[in-house]
Amino acid sequence: MTTALVPTMGALHEGHLDLVRRAKEVADRVVVSIFVNPTQFGANEDFDKYPRTLESDRALLEPFGVEVFAPSIDEVYPLADRESPQGRIEVPDSISTFAASQPTTTFEGATRPGHFDGMLTVVARLFEMVQPDVAVFGQKDAQQVFLVRNLIEQMFPQITLEVVPTNREADGLARSSRNRYLSAEERLHALVLSRALINLSLRLMSATSTAEAVAEARASVEAEPEVRLDYLDIVDPHDFTPVDEQFRGPATAVVAAWVGSTRLIDTINLVIN
Ligand code: PAF
Repeated sequence: MTTALVPTMGALHEGHLDLVRRAKEVADRVVVSIFVNPTQFGANEDFDKYPRTLESDRALLEPFGVEVFAPSIDEVYPLADRESPQGRIEVPDSISTFAASQPTTTFEGATRPGHFDGMLTVVARLFEMVQPDVAVFGQKDAQQVFLVRNLIEQMFPQITLEVVPTNREADGLARSSRNRYLSAEERLHALVLSRALINLSLRLMSATSTAEAVAEARASVEAEPEVRLDYLDIVDPHDFTPVDEQFRGPATAVVAAWVGSTRLIDTINLVIN
């Protein structure tokens, strides 16, 4: 009997359901964890307002016949300081050591210090608790997938990683639990992110340099009202560092921006010829 784990923070949408569908294809038993992990949110981030919709999440999952694992904070972090769980849960030494050897302080990690330490801590903890044979993650969080792949390789080699392509709305917006924060107008502005990535992949076919194509894509995001670009770059999928002009082959474009006060990320796989 094989078990697949789909780790989530709830506020489920079609993108999560794609992960569940994939999990059902590859394992006999599927566990969907729902846990809003305090340690991956920074002090000024949206931990308190992050949508918690356990009952509707359970209803969405009901037709799939999966197990919902919604642990309490005490179950996940039994040794935590109860006064201030968000700030005081210690990252285990094994995870700190692993994180220090990985790109955890660039891109998402540069803007969200400590985010990946918290993410890796909870993912390792969920692996220990659920003991899955397979773990299913969404490609949209490209840096998370990169890190989890290496975490599995180094610390949980018995687990197989399944990565599921990003689920998009009809107009291209990547599905995210945070999309529900967007006003109708912000949602329209947010489309610039997926468009910039698609245009970038096309532009690379004719641009004289990769840097020029990236600069144009950044400018297109910066030109959009209500959108504040954090980063847009193309990274080498082997080490998650920005590609140089000599780079050829499959690569990953990543973007993050605030639309109003909502931080969104997106990614696309492309090829530089
Ligand atoms: O991608 C997410 O929703 C979270 O980072 C995860 C993997 C569930 C860990 O809290």
